[in-house]
Amino acid sequence: MKIAMGNDHSAVDLKNEIKAYVEAKGYEVIDFGTNSSESCDYPVFGEKVGRAVAAGEADYGIAICGTGIGIGIAAGKVKGVRVCTCSEPYSARLSRMHNNTNVLSFGARVIGAEMAKMIVDEWLDNTYEGGRHERRVAQLMEIENS
Ligand code: RB5
Repeated sequence: MKIAMGNDHSAVDLKNEIKAYVEAKGYEVIDFGTNSSESCDYPVFGEKVGRAVAAGEADYGIAICGTGIGIGIAAGKVKGVRVCTCSEPYSARLSRMHNNTNVLSFGARVIGAEMAKMIVDEWLDNTYEGGRHERRVAQLMEIENS
């Protein structure tokens, strides 16, 4: 299983820690950077993560900026992407089970590394339930076509 990862300058350290963490869980990481602390634009990296997931190059995406919001908005602009931006594990878990999210974003200036790992665990270790959620997720994707 492959995870596309992207981040801006605010999240290089957290990206590296989470990258090592998911690799230890057995995932292969496609790292779209940035790997520099020089100021950069989060939409560039959010889009790369979103496109990799939408194209099937990666199974999931993890995008990190200062808040997780900007890079999450960017990834979610790509057709086929459903983003969960969250700061706690419960929402991450339910976003997989009910919303079938395929990109997770969070903020390096909002949460610490241990909370980020708990969020990642809940997000990666749970699966989409389908069933009554199918209709609603289909409705979400229809919005993209309208
Ligand atoms: C960068 O300063 C900051 O705006 C960015 O990391 C992110 O928080 C945007 O949503």
